[in-house]
Amino acid sequence: MAKEKTNYVCTECGGTSAKWLGKCPSCGAWNTLVEQVAPPAGGAANNRFGTQFAALGGTADLAVLSEIEASDVDRTPTGIDELDRVLGGGIVPGGVTLIGGDPGIGKSTLLLQAVDALQRQGQNALYVSGEESGAQVALRSRRLGLERSQVQVLPEIQLEKIIATLDAHRPAIAVIDSIQTVYSDQLTSAPGSVAQVRECAAHLTRFAKASGTAIVLVGHVTKEGALAGPRVLEHMVDTVLYFEGDTHSSFRLVRAIKNRFGAVNEIGVFAMTERGLKGVSNPSAIFLSQHTEPVPGSVVMVTLEGTRPMLVEIQALVDNGGPSPRRLSVGLDRDRLAMLLAVLHRHAGVACMDQDVFVNAVGGVRITEPAADLAVMLSITSSLRGKPLPKGFIAFGEVGLAGEVRPAPRGQERLKEAAKLGFSVAVVPKANAPKKGSKEIEGLTIHAVERVEEALDI
Ligand code: TYD
Ligand code: MG
Repeated sequence: MAKEKTNYVCTECGGTSAKWLGKCPSCGAWNTLVEQVAPPAGGAANNRFGTQFAALGGTADLAVLSEIEASDVDRTPTGIDELDRVLGGGIVPGGVTLIGGDPGIGKSTLLLQAVDALQRQGQNALYVSGEESGAQVALRSRRLGLERSQVQVLPEIQLEKIIATLDAHRPAIAVIDSIQTVYSDQLTSAPGSVAQVRECAAHLTRFAKASGTAIVLVGHVTKEGALAGPRVLEHMVDTVLYFEGDTHSSFRLVRAIKNRFGAVNEIGVFAMTERGLKGVSNPSAIFLSQHTEPVPGSVVMVTLEGTRPMLVEIQALVDNGGPSPRRLSVGLDRDRLAMLLAVLHRHAGVACMDQDVFVNAVGGVRITEPAADLAVMLSITSSLRGKPLPKGFIAFGEVGLAGEVRPAPRGQERLKEAAKLGFSVAVVPKANAPKKGSKEIEGLTIHAVERVEEALDI
């Protein structure tokens, strides 16, 4: 096949160059030039609006918004409940989903289970494996107990061949595992480079939209936590899912970051077992470490992920630091930690200036909501003073810079979940406490607070 002409485009300013350079000749940024297939030349000559558009030709019909029939997207549930939950109901024809996560976290496992479930419902499924041979995929499917699976497997990494095969077979769903292994002949860059990943994903997306095949792209996350190709794929696709969780624990979270067909911030919870990933339909208590007696530095909070409340233990360790003490957080925002330490000092007189402070959300779960603030502060204070909090204690609430405690959304639901799991004492923002005269939550003593100082006094 004749190679098409390529050139290099700057990811910062869009400037182009005929050959690769370390520094962009247009804006001067370093290391920003990536290869692309050069747009056809000569377009500008016959179109007064510029270069590339001329090649597309013709005018298109316009439609009035109110006259377009608004049909709800029709989805095919995969039958794996926790996956359907994050997808917003199921796979959408022509939809493109990107699923990212660390190596070994379970992406291939989950997708093989999903395509097999779809195949059994009579949906034609194709699994393109660029990382493993057909035999390896077969071995995995045996392990998952899918001996009789009718899913078609294509071990291939060349984009043009993949698209030609997809076009010939027109499956209802195709998985590309992974997008980093696929390469196009039209570019000279190595597979996995930003240029290749972007070009291949764009072609596959176009194919999905044109053919109605739902495509799932598997993407590896780099050490910095971004999908390779500085998030270039996220805006191209319809749905972005990320796997989270500690590879050492058996629990895995799948979180929707973006979803054109459903709600975001919904999460699916799975447990990795001998025979693949199993959905956990009642995940509220899995992120607690089981202490028999209360220990200093540990506070349980109720977080609301999507539609379900979950209890997560926050642990803190405060220890004498050197001249430049460290602040580290796992699963929580580090800047927020620095802010909370300042609030603790200023408004509650708890000084950690010369101390190392480490905080961790148990089980590798990532907490993004500010309702964790109160639990973080209490765990730090508890560790600093070496005093455990009472047994059956929970706390949640956002803390502001002035030391005020602000309510968390849907506080009643959180409290009910805590009571259901046998927690007996709660420190919560005043606005989240049940109103006077209204029904109390059985078994739970609630302390409503307005300021950080009050919370620490309790
Ligand atoms: P995998 O799906 O290959 O990860 P990814 O595609 O995200 O890189 O998952 C691999 C891990 O899962 C591996 O460490 C083995 C484990 N595993 C199980 O525990 N049980 C199983 O049934 C399977 C198939 C894998
Ligand atoms: Mg894999």
